[in-house]
Amino acid sequence: MPATAENCITIVLATANRDKVKELRPLLETISPLFNVVTLHELGVEVEIEETEETLEGNALLKARAIFALLSVRFPFMIALADDTGLEVEALHGAPGVYSARFAPVADGQAPTYQDNVRHLLYCMEGMTNREARFRTVVALKGTLPSPEGSFSFEHTAEGVVKGSITRKEQGDKGFGYDPLFLVQTTGKTYAQMSMTEKNRLSHRSLAVQQAISYLKDILQQKSAPLIDTNTRP
Ligand code: IMP
Repeated sequence: MPATAENCITIVLATANRDKVKELRPLLETISPLFNVVTLHELGVEVEIEETEETLEGNALLKARAIFALLSVRFPFMIALADDTGLEVEALHGAPGVYSARFAPVADGQAPTYQDNVRHLLYCMEGMTNREARFRTVVALKGTLPSPEGSFSFEHTAEGVVKGSITRKEQGDKGFGYDPLFLVQTTGKTYAQMSMTEKNRLSHRSLAVQQAISYLKDILQQKSAPLIDTNTRP
């Protein structure tokens, strides 16, 4: 199916986090010419969605639903895509987990910086020998897509997990968040020592996005029009 204004599907990245947008965009932009990936910033939308749920899945869905409700009137076919991510440290019984963004204690009304959280994690793990950890992302999709009858709606979540360990000091200066502390055993590097392309080849976020893309391909195949995959086109 050729991409036209009528059948173009807008994927709205339901996040204000520019670091996430930087990683998500290249993962999504090559799926199909039918998809047009846009950010909230590009749409001129400024919203603060409070993460009130106690699970990554709950928060990802909350964000995707809120952005879909806000923007679906603007687009005939759209998908709101939200990601919620947590670093789960074994010796800390899964903390900081869903509270990864709000881990370090700071004054009331303030939000900790990436650096605050990194320092706090190193402090909490001082002297600990078990450094095992995993990064987990849940991607939530809420959308409306074209079908022979007109359109259909769907909601879906997909998960990506990468196992690693927490280093004793920061290593590397790329990436964001806890990247300088998260060592991926199979590579011998922290995420912060990888280029974005390298991180995107194996990260928790890219695994979750790949699952989400497979789901999209399946439902489009079954209910709508099969995708032309620009990654595999000759
Ligand atoms: P969020 O709730 O999904 O926005 O993410 C929670 C926190 O986890 C962020 O503020 C970052 O500190 C951290 N985080 C999320 N994704 C990554 C990542 O890919 N690498 C390192 N830290 C991350």
